[in-house]
Amino acid sequence: MDADDQVCLCFRVTLRKIRTYLRNEDPPVASLISECLGAGTGCQWCVPFLKHLHAEHQAGRTPDLKVSPERYADARKGFHTSGERDEGVVREAGAGDDPDRATDPSSGQ
Ligand code: FES
Repeated sequence: MDADDQVCLCFRVTLRKIRTYLRNEDPPVASLISECLGAGTGCQWCVPFLKHLHAEHQAGRTPDLKVSPERYADARKGFHTSGERDEGVVREAGAGDDPDRATDPSSGQ
């Protein structure tokens, strides 16, 4: 995913905006990324990816998602249709490795 690709498609929040928010605010928990233009507060599709980006930042790495924006958007459509998250896309993006990734997107972290 490139910096100008959107991570939160509901609110059109780009990876660049999230990186800037993480760098400037250094939030202690991932749920605070919602302060960045409401990211993660719509359909909740992007929540595990936001958690991954937060974990990357906390680890001192440049937050990134290793998935194409097309595949990401297609998987979100499937999520909306079925209500099931395609865990393959989560893993592909690198977000499946986060030990604290909750399966409940409303958990607030
Ligand atoms: S894609 Fe982020 S809340 Fe829907």
